Amino acid sequence: MLDHERVAIHTGSRSRLPVIVAVHSTALGPAAGGLRLWHYPDWRDGLTDALRLSAAMTSKFAVAGLPSGGGKAVVALPEGVELDPGRRRDVLRDVADVIDSLGGMYATGPDVGTGPADMAVIGETTPHVFCRPAHLGGSGDSSPHTARGTLAALRAVSRRLYGTASLKGRGLAIVGLGRVGAGLARLLAAEGAALTVTDIDPDKERISDELGAVWRAPGEILTADVDIVVPSALGSVLTERNVAELRCRAVVGPANNQLAAPHVADLLHHRGIIWVPDYVASAGGVINAISAELHHADADTAHSRVRAIEDTVSDLLETAQRLGRTPAQAADELALRRLGAASSLRQGV
Ligand code: PHE
Repeated sequence: MLDHERVAIHTGSRSRLPVIVAVHSTALGPAAGGLRLWHYPDWRDGLTDALRLSAAMTSKFAVAGLPSGGGKAVVALPEGVELDPGRRRDVLRDVADVIDSLGGMYATGPDVGTGPADMAVIGETTPHVFCRPAHLGGSGDSSPHTARGTLAALRAVSRRLYGTASLKGRGLAIVGLGRVGAGLARLLAAEGAALTVTDIDPDKERISDELGAVWRAPGEILTADVDIVVPSALGSVLTERNVAELRCRAVVGPANNQLAAPHVADLLHHRGIIWVPDYVASAGGVINAISAELHHADADTAHSRVRAIEDTVSDLLETAQRLGRTPAQAADELALRRLGAASSLRQGV
């Protein structure tokens, strides 16, 4: 069943590439969500990703308590296609046209494969864009805020497991050193955590060396003997099979859509491993961007809203335990309650 409000699929008039915008829900407000520019074996895989990622954005906003809806944009690059700067610009203008045609129902931001400079190009065509560079009036790179929000989620889990919010001396495995993963690794290293890291790009070992971390091959890191595994790259990393082999006590990270299938959350729970839903741990970027750009909050207010992820996660873990639910169920129920309350308000119930 398609439970999305609107899905736009276009062949970009300039780039001839598939441009997909999925608006999952505007029940809480106009939809927002990042633009993913990534390789897929088939454009339909990009569509599947856009559908799942946009639904997760709806939950992300609902649990974060923000009046925005969930959406996502995907440009599905065929395998092996690399974009030169001119072609990249064409793609971004194609995306901007689709966003603009939705008349404000959806605004984009950065995601895997895009950043503030790309948002600047989109902003030449449509006002419905977040995270343009500061000199153009945007709130800039969202990834440091996503990293700080994840750190807040990690503190809540640490408090629960070890009775302290400090991550000093704690063993953490960071899976992916992209903009968010590398930023988070730096924050954790500064706090004195013992880091094990990986990335599919072998050049990232440089960052590992710089931080005094232990570098592992991507295939070996999930099962590392650490306290907490931190998925920080692409989704579907937790599967029925590898959950049985995990040696950590918690999985908490900023990657979107970490579970290969929803029931993997139950498997984690049965193994006694705390899994904080990705859409809760990863909300720092959107919380900052939307607070700054839509609500005109000052930097301190926006930052304290990002830090409040620690309380959100603590509350969720506590509610889950009290009601005998998994944290995933507790978060889904909270999101549904907030969405239901919004739609009954609109209908005057
Ligand atoms: N990539 C961000 C996320 O998944 C999306 C985003 C960031 C959207 C900032 C708008 C503003 O949450």
